[in-house]
Amino acid sequence: MKHIPFLSLALAAAVTFVACVNSSQTTVSEEDWIEQTLAKMSVEQKVKMIHAQSKFSSAGVPELGIPELWCTDGPHGIRPEVLWDEWVQAGWTSDSCVAFPALTCLAATWNREMSALYGKSIGEEARYREKDVLLGPGVNILRTPLGGRNFEYMGEDPYLAGEMAVPYIKGVQANGVATCVKHYCLNNEETHRHTVDIDLDDRALYEIYLPAFKKAVQEGGSWSIMSSYNLYRGQHVCHNKRLLVDILKGEWGFDGAVISDWGGVHDTDEAIQNGMDIEFGTWTDGLTMGKTNSYDSYYLADPYLEKIRSGEVGTEELDDKVRRVLRLIHRTAMNPAKPTGSMRSPEHYAAARKIGGEGIVLLKNEGDLLPVKADVKKILVVGENAVKSMIVGGGSSSLKAQHEIYPLTGITERAEAAGATVKWVRGYVGSTQNSYNGVKSGQDLNDSRSTAELVAEAIGEAEKADLVLFVGGLNKSNHQDCEGTDREGLELPYGQDNLIEELLGANPNTAVILISGNPVAMPWISDAPAVIEAWHGGSEAGHALADVLWGDVNPSGHLPFTWPATLADCPAHQDGMTFPNDGKTFYSEGILVGYRWFDTKGIAPLFPFGHGLSYTTFALGEARTSASAIRKGGSLKVSVPVTNTGDRAGAEVIQLYISDDEASVLRPEKELKGFEKVCLQPGETRTVTFDVKEEDLQFFDADKHEWVAEPGTFTARIGTSAGAIATTASFNYSR
Ligand code: BGC
Repeated sequence: MKHIPFLSLALAAAVTFVACVNSSQTTVSEEDWIEQTLAKMSVEQKVKMIHAQSKFSSAGVPELGIPELWCTDGPHGIRPEVLWDEWVQAGWTSDSCVAFPALTCLAATWNREMSALYGKSIGEEARYREKDVLLGPGVNILRTPLGGRNFEYMGEDPYLAGEMAVPYIKGVQANGVATCVKHYCLNNEETHRHTVDIDLDDRALYEIYLPAFKKAVQEGGSWSIMSSYNLYRGQHVCHNKRLLVDILKGEWGFDGAVISDWGGVHDTDEAIQNGMDIEFGTWTDGLTMGKTNSYDSYYLADPYLEKIRSGEVGTEELDDKVRRVLRLIHRTAMNPAKPTGSMRSPEHYAAARKIGGEGIVLLKNEGDLLPVKADVKKILVVGENAVKSMIVGGGSSSLKAQHEIYPLTGITERAEAAGATVKWVRGYVGSTQNSYNGVKSGQDLNDSRSTAELVAEAIGEAEKADLVLFVGGLNKSNHQDCEGTDREGLELPYGQDNLIEELLGANPNTAVILISGNPVAMPWISDAPAVIEAWHGGSEAGHALADVLWGDVNPSGHLPFTWPATLADCPAHQDGMTFPNDGKTFYSEGILVGYRWFDTKGIAPLFPFGHGLSYTTFALGEARTSASAIRKGGSLKVSVPVTNTGDRAGAEVIQLYISDDEASVLRPEKELKGFEKVCLQPGETRTVTFDVKEEDLQFFDADKHEWVAEPGTFTARIGTSAGAIATTASFNYSR
């Protein structure tokens, strides 16, 4: 019997490659294989490997047995197949997927287990579709609520985003599929994403915008990373020396491949010198320019070869790029232990529903309107988002889902099971868009009625209902939650504010349910008894929402960002600051992003970072530390008992923030340094314990270019949101 040296499913980064030759075997380490392969390659073969050969693939070297590398978007499901050189559909009938909830929803679970489940599930779908690189997850920081792609990211806090990215990455890569963490970095704007030239101080860079990427690379072990479109200090990030060479590959020791965002490379010399490894999506459009292969015109294709042939550049950089690409291929396409994956499985739908339900945030619930009571017999659902596809549209994360349970479907199924009837009215007409890049939602949302007619109908029906569920928010059209454009204001579009006010006047038993990836203004908030943020929920959106509305799932999602009352309250919109920006842009709010700004400046948000309610109640006891001081290089533990004081099982997110009480430099009022989600039965108490390490006390000293903790007093603040600190404990730090 043939001996197979390893078939373990634990696909560690430094795997061993097995070559079987005439039934005798040699075991070659990954690095040896890379060197041996490199030695056999011609310059032409090497250059072929460092740029695309189609919209989503790069060439291997068939004559040497090196396979192609296939990428897919990412990050919420596996993108349908496109034509070789087009964004439009290839017309396959077997490429529909499970759409998982948007990453904002995943971040809102504050549950690393949900992130692991997400990564495992989407990784299995990618593997089944024979993809080697999944373009995601996105960990850019939400700098302003107008950011068009915030729905694809994990909120405003670097610690939360990093912690949630790591299990996603490990889950995907356990399938022999690389994650490509994006968009490294400072991709906080869509409108001028190719030309905005960002500068910021090093503290903001190192403390706010880099940590999630660093964690993704160092703790998650991501095998690739996508460089962003924007410029940083006058140089495109896709060939930015400081970000790619000095920080990513230098300071962090990243051994994977840097993949350009599609069309992000603009210069051959810089791309050679400054750490770009594989160029994708450059808009040479050779097919219509009459060239046989436009890909040969890429910056890292013929122009690079010519420079090598003429002696203008050597091959040292080329070899480094090829080593990284070979490493990536070895870990994915050539991985002998990669599983077969699976697609559209019941387990994946169950995962989408579970993550979706856990991420939904109950923002407000006064008067006990929710969960839906047994005596509610007539339910009116109002709003376009109750019936509109949120999976089709929004840019590169648009998917072709096998099915999408709309909110109205989920609500109707659940209401009927409870003996209630459901009626739906439109209320407003937003976007009638029903296809994207050739994927059709199959919906006809045309409606020629006037706003007055739609509102009148909604009010008339609301007066007759026991309960009104308004389902609105944003959608995936331009200037909403959508790649390539940013929002134009904080307000809800399409006259929804007026409609909500009218509904609340007609029937006070109205719950407002928002589908969005961003906060919105709520001028009606004081009249609304119940408000839910349901995010973009993917294939199982309607089921997950109904689970929470009826209390089959007790809500436990918490906001991954601050919900501002007005745009002017936000740090990126303070006096004189504009957004979006073209050309030179300085992030003058520095480190004070999100709650760091609101807390430090004493501005009350509508809902604080980390906020989320439950149908039960929790009480936190007193925080206790295991020691009175941390010494250099040391740590201590801080614990707090948590009790479920209500009458149903539920989960609470216990959040640890640290404040530096005696800092010599500006520090945020407090910063998130730990969180745990605890599930408790009624009356049950559990103690949550956090490790506080020296690094949790540090700030980045830009002059010394090092992380520094200053001796003095620190306070651990523990609570259920940045605005609900229940208990504190102080301790000292000394060197
Ligand atoms: C997006 C990326 C995406 C790529 C490929 C780009 O426009 O910015 O996030 O992965 O296209 O679709």
